[in-house]
Amino acid sequence: MSATTVIRPAGASDGEAIAAFTQDTFAWGDYIADSFDTWLSEPGTLMVVAVDDQDTPIAMSRARIVSPIEAWFHAARVHPGWRGRGIAGDMAAELRVWAREEGAVVGRLLIEDWNEASVRHVEKIGFRRVVDVVRCVKPIGDASPSPNGNGSRRVPSRLRARPAHAADATPAYASWSIGELGRAMRGLTGSRWTYARLTINHLTSAAKSDSFWEIGSGWAVIDTQGDAVEVGWLETRSEDAPDLLRAVIDLAVGRGAESISLWLPAVDWIVKAAKRLGFSTEPMGVYAVEL
Ligand SMILES: CC(C)(COP(=O)(O)OP(=O)(O)OC[C@H]1O[C@@H](n2cnc3c(N)ncnc32)[C@H](O)[C@@H]1OP(=O)(O)O)[C@@H](O)C(=O)NCCC(=O)NCCS
Repeated sequence: MSATTVIRPAGASDGEAIAAFTQDTFAWGDYIADSFDTWLSEPGTLMVVAVDDQDTPIAMSRARIVSPIEAWFHAARVHPGWRGRGIAGDMAAELRVWAREEGAVVGRLLIEDWNEASVRHVEKIGFRRVVDVVRCVKPIGDASPSPNGNGSRRVPSRLRARPAHAADATPAYASWSIGELGRAMRGLTGSRWTYARLTINHLTSAAKSDSFWEIGSGWAVIDTQGDAVEVGWLETRSEDAPDLLRAVIDLAVGRGAESISLWLPAVDWIVKAAKRLGFSTEPMGVYAVEL
């Protein structure tokens, strides 16, 4: 516990101070300043700041309720001059109390493996690594250095993605739950950097929004946001994995997308299949705590 900071809910007037110390958080910059105002008004969330003795924010963090019993923690940022004093832990304690009061019984977050400070911070406050995931990214179309991938001609898949129906949700859920991918994911599914427990309802909703696809004897949830295609969930077997991923690439190319990202469990055969198709890979961990 840090001795000097006060934690309070964030307000609109905190945006400027937060933006000032989050310009260069990572080598690529940061997205906090762009998201701050939207986040403030989102229901089912709490954003807190730690302030100095002038009530100026020197850190922030945020929690969202992602299901009746699950919370997601993210966007922890501590001013570089205030790091190493346990301030992120103090903010997490406040967020945990709030999430528990909202009915959540488990809280989770995601950390890229290179981020040692973050791993240290969450392990000190009781989070445990529960799932190893790999984010795989591939530029395609005009964004690709070689539009055909790997410097050679893109080989279309022998499989074609077809829209799946709500009735496919149950067999897909069952297959994944007992298969290698679902077991490695411990029942969690990813979407836009957030993980929550997969339910059959996720898949029926995906079918209703045209993002649930049947590919050979497997399935995938494929979303398009702008020019980026994201696969948050998929179910396949090792022998079908290369063709399923090729079919995803075919679909993304057909939509004119510029990039594809896959959220995969760290299962050797599926990660290797992605690498062979030219995806770059970033290992990460989902961490969880009881609330
Ligand atoms: C990750 C982060 C939120 C941790 O906040 P914090 O309040 O400094 O957390 P802690 O005080 O518990 O320190 C955690 C670890 O940071 C490292 N650390 C300590 N002093 C540090 C300093 N001055 N500068 C950078 N890292 C420091 C140490 O490894 C420490 O672990 P230790 O206490 O076992 O030695 C903060 O480093 C940060 O804002 N990083 C950039 C944004 C980020 O990566 N956010 C998380 C995304 S998943």
